[in-house]
Amino acid sequence: AIHLYHQTLLYTSKIGYVLAASGSAVGLGNIWRFPYLAAKHGGGIFLLTYLVCALTFGYALLIAESGIGRMTGKGPIGAYRDFCAEKKGLLKIIGAGGWINALVPLIVLPYYCVIGGWVIKYIAALAGNPIAVFAKDVFVTGADGGQVSASADYFSRFIASTREPLGCFLLFMGILAAVVSSGVQKGVERFNKILMPLLIVMIVAICIYCCFLPGAQEGLCYYLAPDVSKFSFMTVIAAMGQLFYSLSIAMGVMITYGAYMRREDDLVSCVNQIEFFDTAVAFFAGLMIIPPVVSFGGKAAAENAGAGLIFITMPQVFASIPCGRIVGVVFFLLVLFAAATSAVSLLETDIHSCCQELKISRRSALAVVVAEAALVGCITVLGYSVLSDVRPLAFIRHCAGMNILDALDFLCNSILIPVAAIFTTLLVVAVIGLKRFSAEIGQGKPWRRAGVFRFCMRWTVAPCLLLILLYSTGFFDCRPELRTR
Ligand code: PHE
Repeated sequence: AIHLYHQTLLYTSKIGYVLAASGSAVGLGNIWRFPYLAAKHGGGIFLLTYLVCALTFGYALLIAESGIGRMTGKGPIGAYRDFCAEKKGLLKIIGAGGWINALVPLIVLPYYCVIGGWVIKYIAALAGNPIAVFAKDVFVTGADGGQVSASADYFSRFIASTREPLGCFLLFMGILAAVVSSGVQKGVERFNKILMPLLIVMIVAICIYCCFLPGAQEGLCYYLAPDVSKFSFMTVIAAMGQLFYSLSIAMGVMITYGAYMRREDDLVSCVNQIEFFDTAVAFFAGLMIIPPVVSFGGKAAAENAGAGLIFITMPQVFASIPCGRIVGVVFFLLVLFAAATSAVSLLETDIHSCCQELKISRRSALAVVVAEAALVGCITVLGYSVLSDVRPLAFIRHCAGMNILDALDFLCNSILIPVAAIFTTLLVVAVIGLKRFSAEIGQGKPWRRAGVFRFCMRWTVAPCLLLILLYSTGFFDCRPELRTR
């Protein structure tokens, strides 16, 4: 019976695995964060830096995580435990890394769903309202009595209300719970198999449309032409930080999905495809967003973009282009799909960890995790209204202004994720051993970028992660989006 149970926890095909893992990787990070980071850090030069990092560090960590999962058939906690169990001393302590990897998705899931809820609201708003209410030149009196653009006012009023954002958040969570409750094959795999191809068709269609709008050329140049003068150390740090987030690394997700992979599928080629997917979608998202934003608001609009980019600036853009309402609805549907497939991966990871550690059924684990996410998510939503004075990280000077969502995001992205990834590197290099690990990945055969993998894991990944940790915790301000939120 145990064997049969395990069978239903495997993806049925290689493409099923690739689409599910890509579904996790392609998310809000690709569509919202990547384009404005690229715009801010010199366009083409950022793209180039990102690509180099993706082909080296990103590749190494993605291989590492999927491999750990497949070797053990377990989620992060169980996998770390298996490897560290018979070790002693310092090596045994590395086993704790599994818990950090498992903690991250528990924190990320609730606030990711809050943003997913905002996206649902915007689909309804664009479909139901005349698009002109979002136009750039419509101003209203804001909450503080000054003039603000109607689009910005709409957004701030929405998130500062209580009932609507709570409803949208719970709706989003409900959809996820329904998908995951149908299991790995019928739920997660099928969901991704339908949504990911749709997402790609939509993103390419909007890209083509946006790149042919009058005035798009300036934005295209801005996005694609490398501006060497803007290259700095920060470009590299920003690119690496974005990369880890974008590939869903250090969240236990790729370990868990790796565990669901069939042993006969070629892990190396899967990882290549996932990496390609994720980078391609990020690139297209830039093509879809930057040209219209630049032609509409100039370079400043792109450079100063933060969280408001998709919720404030994009609706203004849609109000100014032909067929804007339709394009807008399709755009937000696409964002919704990207967010939902990522959130499903977080939920699945949480459930897997809960099942294994608490020794309960999938159904009970689903209930536990959904309850946790609903509770934390509701508190996060209220962080914009009833609890807007709460500053969870007020004791850290440069985090003093962060509301609940920003604080959770900071905690994960800037602290826990780099730490978790350092543990994964240590696990592979010190506990498992690179030789044994590479042999296992290639299932005995040599593979093409094995040298790159070993070199990165041994020499570069951990120091770079340490740098990211130092920079993002305030040694140097490399999280400008936190300031603009
Ligand atoms: N990779 C996702 C993105 O780009 C972020 C994410 C990571 C979401 C892990 C879910 C799980 O948005």
